[in-house]
This record gives sequence, C-alpha cells and structure tokens, in this order.
Amino acid sequence: MAKRTCLSLVLAAGEGTRMKSARPKVMHEVAGRPMIGHVLAAASAAGSDRLGLVVGPDMREVAEGAEREFRQISVFTQTERLGTAHAVLAARAALERRADDVLVLYGDTPLIRPETLIRIRERLAQGVDLAVLGFRATHPEGYGRLILDREGGLEAICEEGDAGPGERAIDLCNSGVMGFRGALLPGLLDDIGNDNAKKEFYLTDAPALARSKGLSVAIVECAEEEVLGVNSQAELARVEAVHQRRLRRRALEAGVTMIAPETVFLSYDTELGPDVKVEPNVVFGPGVTVRSGATIKAFSHIEAAVIDEGASVGPFARLRPGARIGRQARVGNFVEIKAADIGAGAKINHLSYVGDATVGAEANIGAGTITCNYDGQKKHRTVIGAGAFIGSNAALVAPVTVGEGAYVGSGSVITKDVEPDALALERSEQVARPGWAARWREKFASSGKRNKKI
Ligand code: UD1
Ligand code: CA
Repeated sequence: MAKRTCLSLVLAAGEGTRMKSARPKVMHEVAGRPMIGHVLAAASAAGSDRLGLVVGPDMREVAEGAEREFRQISVFTQTERLGTAHAVLAARAALERRADDVLVLYGDTPLIRPETLIRIRERLAQGVDLAVLGFRATHPEGYGRLILDREGGLEAICEEGDAGPGERAIDLCNSGVMGFRGALLPGLLDDIGNDNAKKEFYLTDAPALARSKGLSVAIVECAEEEVLGVNSQAELARVEAVHQRRLRRRALEAGVTMIAPETVFLSYDTELGPDVKVEPNVVFGPGVTVRSGATIKAFSHIEAAVIDEGASVGPFARLRPGARIGRQARVGNFVEIKAADIGAGAKINHLSYVGDATVGAEANIGAGTITCNYDGQKKHRTVIGAGAFIGSNAALVAPVTVGEGAYVGSGSVITKDVEPDALALERSEQVARPGWAARWREKFASSGKRNKKI
C-alpha cells in the first residue's frame, strides 16, 4: 500500500488572556521548549509531510519561531477569532493541496504523543472518515462532551455552553484533536454555522455533520493526562509536572542514576548517557549533553553545555551556554563556566569564574581564579595551556595566554602572556617586621584599654 500523506494543522490563534502574560500563550515553555514546539514536534513524529500553523494577527514571534524550527511549515493568520472551524478555514490554501489524512491539533495541548496521533491515522487508514480523540475527564467542566448513540458510536459533540444537565453529566470529553479524511474536510467546514451560545464556528460540529452526510465517525481514546490543556499559569505548572515525570522516567530507563528524580528538572532535549549520576536538586536547561559515567552533584544549574565521559560537576556549579567539560575533568563548588573548553582531566575545584576561555588538559585552576573577560565594551579570550598551574585568587585579564606547563603565583593579576613553563608573579613583596604585633598589643595594654582580641 502506498504511504498515506498527512497534513497537520495546529490552531494557536486564541488570545490566552487567562495566562495574564504579555507573551502569546503557546510561547510559554514546558521543559524548556515553547508549547507550540511540542505540538509541532509530535505532529512531525507522527509522519506529517506538511505542517500548518494558524496564528492570530499579532503573533509574529510565534510564526517566526515555528518557521525556524520546522521546515515543512506554512503559517496562516486568522484575522478575526471566530472559532475553531473558522481557524481551520484560515489554512484553506494548505487544505486545497490534498493530503490523505488531515490532523487538527490545538497549540495549548502540549503533552500529546506521536503514538496517539498514529492511532488516529490508523483509523483513517482503515476507512474511517473522521476520528475524534476523546478522554474520560475527572472534571469535565469546560470541555465539549461526546454524545454517543445507542450503539456507542459518536453522534455529536456538545460544547459546555450549549449543554443541558444530561449532557453535563457525561465525562467522555473532546480533547480537541481530530483526524479527517483529507478530501472531506473543506466540504464539512463550509457547512458549519455559528448557531450556538458563543456565536462561533465550532469545529466540534463536524462529527454530527459528517454523520448526517452518511460518513463514518469514530472515537479514539487516550489518557486525560495526555490532553491536558493550558489556559492558566496553574495549568501550565501542572503540564510541566507531567512532562517532567515523563522525562525522568525516560532518563532512568536509559541507565541514569538519580536517587531523588523528583528533584531533578530536565529539558525536552537533555541527553544523559548510561551510568551518568545526577544528585538531587539539579536543573538542566535546554541543550545539555552529559556523556556516560559523568557525575552531576547536587544543586548544579546547567544549560547548553556538554560534559564528557567521567567528568564531575558540582555541587553548586553553574555551567552556562558553551561550556564544554572534557573527559575526567572536575568542576567543583561555586564555579561558573561560560563559553569555555575545559580540557580532559583539568581541575577547577573551587569558587572560580571561567568565561570565554580554553583550559588545556590537566591544567589546575586554583580557588578563586577569575578570567576577566569583559572590559565593559567587548569580551576577550583567555587561553590556558595544558598542565598549567594557576595559583589561588589569580585574575587573568583577557586577552591573555598562559603557556603550557606555566605557573601563575597566587593573587597575581596577569595582564601579559606567560611563556610555557615560566613562572609569572604579580604582587608586591611581603614586608616582615619581627615583634611588631607584640608591641602593638603592649601599647594598648599600657593605655589601660581592654584588648582581649586583635
Ligand atoms: C475546545 C473545544 C472543546 C474541547 C476543548 C479541549 C471547540 C469549539 N471546543 O474548547 O470541545 O473539549 O477545546 O481543550 O473546538 N483557536 C483559534 N481560533 C479561534 C478559536 C480558537 O485558533 O477562533 C484555537 C486556540 O488558540 C486553541 C484552540 O483553538 O489552541 C482551542 O480553542 P479554545 O478557545 O481554547 O477552545 P476551548 O473552549 O478550550
Ligand atoms: Ca482550550
């Protein structure tokens, strides 16, 4: 059988006023990725050849973000928000290029999984004309209810505003996701009116209309958790919690050790290799790869960084974008690293800032070392050669290079390059005054003042 073509349309033109935020609703993030990205990614993974996105007139940011990430996407603008069927019609140009299957999804339902969309497509492939993704809701208020006929087939969807007490008692609800035999959709949409409580064109009128035309309609069921919608900040937090549970489970299944997984926060793209150990209270922002055998100790914050085999990071470390920690390297407590390559086996164990830098293999960076990378105008690089030893509390004023195997004395402010294997020392000579402290105490004692401590 020839592969069926699929167009997925994601509706995102709603205003999301209940989020009380200047950001468009679908740009709010779940596990470090905008909600709309999750939905489009699920649609792609379900085999969509084309993606369509319907946004509101003031949502350029959404359109641009989606276009950057998804090549096969066409963005449409719904100029007036007249309902979900009206929103689908805004993408009429996409519908006219026929697809065997058309999936309609909502941009504010980011937990939808490709497996579920594939189940809908399987029903279409079996000859069903319209499949609605339904679920049993613990609190059905606000959802469209699925009205069944005597044989248990889907007769109609009744929106909350149009439902009587009998309908309100139904807990089988509309998730919003629907699959259509592509050729039928434009005709169905044209017949949908707005004779309802909200005077909107409801996509949810499609099943009853399809039945009246003798078409076949089916329900595909999924877990409520998968189709939780986000309309408020509280719902966003709930969806985040569900997504975090999924990511943690996946990490554990891949061989990651976490003694308190519920305290570890992952991003949608966090890659943790086997035998990685993550201690409690670690936060992974987007773009992190941790290779096998590495340990991330408690209370570390890591984003857009790569940590190689066997390295150790934390506790209380902060890795910012562009940090690359080499094999077996050690980054200890209260160390911040940004845009820096740390060579294999190098040690930066305490209280340092290393930014815009290259640190060679096996180099030892003493406590409190700072790369002074910013002069108030521009950023500059610091290069530290392999095996170099930087004494505690050194300030390396970039641009500057410390050669391989060189030593920098503690407390030095290094502004000039240091040759390989040289010692660089920049501090004033120590003054010694034998007996001075005793005389100082004596002076206070003779003046009658109490001087228990100095
Ligand atoms: C919708 C469904 C309801 C279902 C629920 C699931 C309709 C009429 N109702 O209700 O049966 O149980 O979702 O969460 O479809 N949108 C547009 N343009 C518009 C209106 C909406 O693009 O003119 C988009 C929104 O951005 C959103 C989606 O469509 O992504 C759903 O709209 P929303 O207003 O949230 O519908 P609900 O009342 O939640
Ligand atoms: Ca909604």
